[in-house]
This record gives sequence, C-alpha cells and structure tokens, in this order.
Amino acid sequence: MKKYLVTGSYGQIGMDLIPAMLERYGKENIVATGRKKIPKEFKELDVIYNRLDIRDQYGLRRLLVDYDIDIIIHNASVLSATGERNPQLAHSINFEGFYNALEATRELKLEQLFAPSSIAAFGPTTPLDNTPNTTIMEPTSIYGISKVYTELMGNYYKQKYDLNFRSLRYPGVLSPEEPGGGTTDYAIWIFYEAIKNKKYECFLGPDVELPMMMMSDCLKSTFDLIEAPEEKLKHRTFNVTGMSFTPEVLANAIKEYIPDFEITYKPDFRDDIARTWPHSLDDSTAREEWGWDPEYPFDKMVTAMLDGVSEKLGIPYK
Ligand code: SER
Repeated sequence: MKKYLVTGSYGQIGMDLIPAMLERYGKENIVATGRKKIPKEFKELDVIYNRLDIRDQYGLRRLLVDYDIDIIIHNASVLSATGERNPQLAHSINFEGFYNALEATRELKLEQLFAPSSIAAFGPTTPLDNTPNTTIMEPTSIYGISKVYTELMGNYYKQKYDLNFRSLRYPGVLSPEEPGGGTTDYAIWIFYEAIKNKKYECFLGPDVELPMMMMSDCLKSTFDLIEAPEEKLKHRTFNVTGMSFTPEVLANAIKEYIPDFEITYKPDFRDDIARTWPHSLDDSTAREEWGWDPEYPFDKMVTAMLDGVSEKLGIPYK
C-alpha cells in the first residue's frame, strides 16, 4: 500500500476526499494536513492530521519523511474569488505552495505528485465551447495564472527529472459541503438559500454557462488518474467534466421541487471571471487515455443536492 499526504484537506473537496481515502486506502496510509483550524467533522474522523501551511517547506518535508510518504495530493489553493480579493495571498499560497510540493517530490524522490488544475486555467482567448484538452491558455485571474504555472511546471519537472506529475482540470465541483471562495460556488449556495429562504440573489448573470461535476465524480476521476498505469498516459493534465448548465437552467430545475423559489441576479466581479471560462469541456483525452466516464447527469445532481443540503440544514424541502 502507498502512503499519501493530502494538503488542503479541510477544503470543500478534502471534506469528502479524506473519508473516501480512509475507506479506499486505510487509516495508516493517509496523512491529512491543512492550514486552518481542524473542523469538528474532522475531529470525529479517525484520521492522522497535522496543521501545515504549504508555504512551510521544512514542515512539509518533515511530515513527508516522518510518515514515509509516497504520493502527495496537493489540494491547498486559494480559489478564484478569494484570489481576486487578495492576489498577494493567492500568489504566495498557490505559487510558493505548489513549488514546495514539487521540489519536495523531486528531492525526496516521491512516487507521484497529484495537483489539480481548473477550468480557470483557460481564458477569453480560449475556444469556450467544448474546450479541447490542448488549446490556448491565457487566463486573466491570479488563480487561473497559478493553475497554468502548476501545469507547466509539472510538465517541466516530468521532462527534466522524470517526476510523476498528474493533474485534472476540475470544473465547478458540487457537494452539500460549504464551498470556499470560488466562482462556481453559486451552484451550491443556490441550494442552501432555496431550502432556507426560498430565494437567492445570484452573483452571476442568468446566462453564464459553466462546466460542473458532482463530488463523487470528482473523487472518481482523482482516484482513477492517480492509480492509472504510467504507460497509458500521453498527457499529464486532463479536462474532466460531468455536465454544463446556466444559473437560469439550475433555478428552473430547483423550482420543480420548490415551486415558490425565486432567483434574482446581481452580477459582480465573479460574473466577469466566469465569462472568461469554458461553457463546456471536451474530456475525450481523459476518456481515451485512462477510461474517464462520469456517472452523474444533471437531473440526478439536482435531487442529490436537494437531499444532501436539506439533511445538512435539518430543513425538509418537500
Ligand atoms: N471552483 C473553482 C472556482 O470557482 C474553479 O476551479 O474558483
């Protein structure tokens, strides 16, 4: 069994990734780390956890050596909206943090570094419909720029040092967990507000179409790529997606279950960011090279989100 260290474990993805890893790989093979105070849900999990700011390269190396780690899953990142509010913080965490993970993987000769990229790595000059795996990437957000850096440095270390870097361009990831600081977060808050208050003011315009995926598909793609045999991979970074929709389409779907739900629109700077991102992704490279096959379609996502958020809030929606 390999041993894994996860950074950013207390983010939206980590909150589901860590329990899934415990089940898949066993407690003794996982070290969860995060910069912030450990959330109470985590304390209830039987998992080894350590406070770690990914900018602390010595702290990172100490944990990698002490726990004899083989693979880093580097999820720590400042997302797009928080990044625009504080570009200096995004720069230090996303650039320095990734560089520390990369250099530690090289120096300690670890087996693999997995670090997600994002749809944010694309920009206004990218073909935005059915965006190909290889295309123009000129992002305009600091978060997007940091993800291009991640991809290119990962490729460089693969070519230069044969470092086993792997990455997925996640679209918006949907789960009943509270998200933190992203542009795609509207598609989660809309469920919270629909169930609590039957109304939601959306920070994107009604027509902004973005690619999304359900958390279970996000975890599936992550495990599938990490575990894929090296000889199958011709690329290091892959588009993955589950569905695409606009706020208006999502609001109409929610209205079928909560008929008096009302949405209003007050686009802010996040609308500007979202309009530079793909509407849909071509994920055929991932399908061809390691068999990517998402499970969750739009309709099933809507009912799963309604059930999940309703349970989390303790408020029935029916
Ligand atoms: N969910 C991210 C964001 O909105 C995109 O990777 O910032």
